Amino acid sequence: MKDSATRPAAVPVNDVPALSALPEWQQFKDAAETADRKGGTLRVIEAAGMSIDLSAQPHSDAFTEASHALLRVRNFKQMRRDLLEGGIVNHTEDRAAWHTMLREPSPTPEVAHERTRLLQFVQRADSERRWRHVLHIGIGGSDWGLRLTVAAFGYTGTWRDIRFVANIDGHAIEGGLSGLNPHETVVVIASKSFTTAETLENAQRALEWLRAAGVKYPERQLVAVTARPAIARKFGVPKDQIFPFWDWVGGRFSFWSSVCVSTALTVGTDVMAGMLAGAHSMDEHFRTAPIHRNAPVQLALAGVANRSVLGFSSLNVSVYDSRLFHLVPYLQQLEMESLGKSVTLAGEPVGVPTGPAVWGMPGTDAQHTFFQWLHQGDGAAVDFIVCQQADHRWPDHHQQLVANCLAQREALLRGKSYDEVLSEIGKTSDREYAEWLAKHKVYEGGRPSNLIVLPRLSPYTLGSLIALYEHKVFVQALIWGINPFDQWGVELGKTLTSQIRKDWQNMAEGKAVSAASHDVSTQHWLQRFAPPSVQQDI
Ligand code: F6P
Repeated sequence: MKDSATRPAAVPVNDVPALSALPEWQQFKDAAETADRKGGTLRVIEAAGMSIDLSAQPHSDAFTEASHALLRVRNFKQMRRDLLEGGIVNHTEDRAAWHTMLREPSPTPEVAHERTRLLQFVQRADSERRWRHVLHIGIGGSDWGLRLTVAAFGYTGTWRDIRFVANIDGHAIEGGLSGLNPHETVVVIASKSFTTAETLENAQRALEWLRAAGVKYPERQLVAVTARPAIARKFGVPKDQIFPFWDWVGGRFSFWSSVCVSTALTVGTDVMAGMLAGAHSMDEHFRTAPIHRNAPVQLALAGVANRSVLGFSSLNVSVYDSRLFHLVPYLQQLEMESLGKSVTLAGEPVGVPTGPAVWGMPGTDAQHTFFQWLHQGDGAAVDFIVCQQADHRWPDHHQQLVANCLAQREALLRGKSYDEVLSEIGKTSDREYAEWLAKHKVYEGGRPSNLIVLPRLSPYTLGSLIALYEHKVFVQALIWGINPFDQWGVELGKTLTSQIRKDWQNMAEGKAVSAASHDVSTQHWLQRFAPPSVQQDI
């Protein structure tokens, strides 16, 4: 963020009216409310190697027309251009959000240079057989994408293994270090800001661990990926092992930068190259496909209708591929950090509910966990994700998996009416009993979902899948009029954490702690959790 001296004097964006105030919104709302929700029309979009079936989403000619009008009034085409060409789209931080440049086949010279450096670094480490273990330290956007990749493609792994440490919970670093040979471990510290408390504390523990083990030059086993190379340098990371990226790469989009060094060292550089290619192909689809066949745009419109009109407050991600279990937290950060906002760029209330809560787990486990609620409880919009081809040797398992995925989606869409149930039960039970039991067996149906089909789980398809969600989120933010690239909501908690730690410090030094600075419950727990040496009233 620019400092106050260089901050623009005027509010940069004031032409983003609240969605609820737009006549185009009213038209969209009416159309969504009256649209077909029973899957009457087959709607499959082919995009970047994937097939995306929106048949189970609200659909009608009026809805299509209203969607186009809504995108027009929100200046979609110009905004898409701004995003893809590196214009300022993150207005509250006055910067671009140009992660698409990181996956360009012919990127800017600075991006190309860093890509080459990374490749050479990994190739050299491989040819010298340096390091058996990678300890990756980072959190949020500096973590989830790597976990996702390693879990998805770990089976292609090289001779190195990898551990991830994100949480400040000491059990995380304890588990991360346990069993590793310090003399053969490279510690990768990934942090855009290089100020994130969890990451710096864990990195410090790792450094102490290297020193304690008698490693002669522990700093030589450190690698940093950051937009603040000077701080990494101060931490002790050798200059040639610092991989910089840029302010215009948002933390939750930084996976496409050199942050992927840890996966390159473990599952290989080809995996990352494939993911970049897949993501780029989705970027191109997003840039060029007409609105009615533009997958991110159509997913976004359906998502807005589900959340802001039809009242589904959450999006369930049911991925029918157990290798993708980290996709849910990855998408939680992408969607909820981007869309968990309530004011427009102009600073006014949006006027309608915005980003849904995102949650889920792989199917079929999910079916035995929360699907009951999806079918007969409040319900959620659902994204079903499945691969056409599996990579194991039991074809029948895959057929069963796919059958489950298709069946759950059909059940949500079609439902089962009281009359249908009654006629089934009525054949074998007495009337009164059948009428009573039938009420418990009704499925409402008309519950919206997407079916996203990957031909196979490959780096290419995973890359395009992630980019699909990134662009969907961008379009939804555009419609809601919010900034998807900032995250001011995470700051207050960080400030209060520092305050609490400062209070404990003051207590330890016998200084007074202002009771008024906390609510009564926090005061109570501050006292109860105070370090053992400190027991005084606050
Ligand atoms: O959760 C807030 C956040 O800033 C995320 O946006 C980011 O991915 C994460 O913290 C880690 O930040 P950094 O990469 O700067 O350590």
